[in-house]
Parts: sequence; C-alpha cells; structure tokens
Amino acid sequence: MLYVKNLYKSYLSGSKEYPVLKKINLHIGVGEFVAVMGPSGSGKSTLLNCISCYIPFEKGEIRLGGTALANLDETALAKVRNEKLGFVFQDFMLLDGLTIRENILVPRIIRGNADHEGEELADHLLTLFGIDHIRSKYPAEVSGGERQRAAVVRSLINRPLMILADEPTGNLDSKSGRTVMEAFENARNQMNTTVFMVTHDSFFASFCDRVILLKDGMVFRELEKNGNRSSFHELLLTTIKEMSGDIQ
Ligand SMILES: Nc1ncnc2c1ncn2[C@@H]1O[C@H](COP(=O)(O)OP(=O)(O)OP(=O)(O)O)[C@@H](O)[C@H]1O
Ligand SMILES: [Mg+2]
Repeated sequence: MLYVKNLYKSYLSGSKEYPVLKKINLHIGVGEFVAVMGPSGSGKSTLLNCISCYIPFEKGEIRLGGTALANLDETALAKVRNEKLGFVFQDFMLLDGLTIRENILVPRIIRGNADHEGEELADHLLTLFGIDHIRSKYPAEVSGGERQRAAVVRSLINRPLMILADEPTGNLDSKSGRTVMEAFENARNQMNTTVFMVTHDSFFASFCDRVILLKDGMVFRELEKNGNRSSFHELLLTTIKEMSGDIQ
C-alpha cells in the first residue's frame, strides 16, 4: 500500500547540504498500525512530511495506493492529501469556534462532499469512538484525550487509505494517550485503516503491530509484535538502549 524506496532527502544550510534521510526503504500494508521511533533529529518528521506530500524529496520513490508521489504537481498533491490521507497532529488543530461534530465534518466540507452520508458517518464514528456525549461541545470544553479522539475521527471522515500522525500523544498523559492508541486500533479493526505514527514513547509504540527504528536518517531495525503488548514494550526498550549504545 505504501512503498518507500531509496528515499533521500537533504536540507541546505548556506551552500552546504545536510542529508537527513539516507536511502530509506519501507513497506506498509493495508490495515497495519506502524510506528516510527528514533532519537530527536533522526528524521522522523521529515519522513512523515515527505509521505504527507508537504515537502519535496530529491531521490527515491514513494508510492501510495498505486500513485507515485514524485513528479506530481501541487494540485495533484493536494488531491492525494485530501482523498487518500488523514492527519492527526500533536496539538490537535481543532477549530475553536466549531463544535466537536462540526470539526469532524470540516474535511468533508473542504472536499466538497458535506452531504447526508457524511453526517451519518460522523454520527456513527462519534458513537464508535466513545465521544458522542461531547458532540455539541467546543474544543475548549473537553479534555485533551477527547480532543485527540475527535481529531482521529476527523481524520477518518473521508475514509482515507492511511492516517499519518506526528507525536499524537505528545501533549497527553499516559491515560489519555492510551485512549488515543485504542482509537487507532479501533480505526484499524473496524475500518481497516492503515495508521503510520511518529512517537518518542515506547509505551505508546507498543500498541502498534510493527515499529521502525530510525537512526541518523537510516532504518536501524524493524521490530514486529509477536506476543502481547507488554513483552513488545520490553523488546522496544532493550533495542532502543542498544541503538543508543548503552549496551552492546
Ligand atoms: N526545514 C528545515 N530546514 C533545515 N533543516 C531541517 C528542517 N527541518 C528539519 N531539519 C533538520 O533535519 C533533521 C531531522 O529533523 P526532523 O524534524 O525530521 O527530526 P525528528 O526525528 O522528527 O526530531 P524530533 O524527535 O525532535 O521531532 C534535524 O537535524 C533538523 O534540524
Ligand atoms: Mg519530529
């Protein structure tokens, strides 16, 4: 579903080129819940932003649901973002002047399909994700975890191929963060949505099916969950220690 092949991306500082992503290769299948972890500056957000079509890359290939992203013009990229992707951000990005239900419908309005079907889907998702009781409240009147679950529902309202989330639990405590991970699991289980998330936090990453560890712009290792969540958490902690050179 998502293929990244030999992705290379650098930033210019003055006349000097700093490579940030060096030959990244990865594949994510339909319905997978995958996290990217790695130290600060390892290129996690850059990778996500390349897949999100927000920043151009110099070499390599990204294919999303059969479409190659390189060489698409701005209009075509905007269409991919709107029709194939859903986004969840660290700081929620809900509009203060709209209710939770209205916020959820915003991507339908942008796409020009704010119809009865969209309204029905919004109501269905509000119930499915356990936030129906806050549908008429404003973002300032609900908790951080509820805001982020509303953002997850908003990301699903155009039935995207994939949700991209950069540090979705960054502003949440572990209890609220957990409800957001359960919302992603729900999206995967009920709607077969693919979720690709960047996180610093091994506890939240342990909810995923697979974790890709980035180091210095390269894939250090990929880890799959074969047992339960807590044994996967242990495996992640050990491997991160190994990656940072604490143990050999
Ligand atoms: N627009 C930019 N211009 C120049 N350099 C940039 C730009 N964006 C990021 N970088 C550099 O690229 C490297 C990777 O940044 P990136 O934001 O992808 O890291 P990250 O893994 O998401 O880090 P963090 O965990 O702190 O969010 C860093 O060294 C950063 O300083
Ligand atoms: Mg980042």
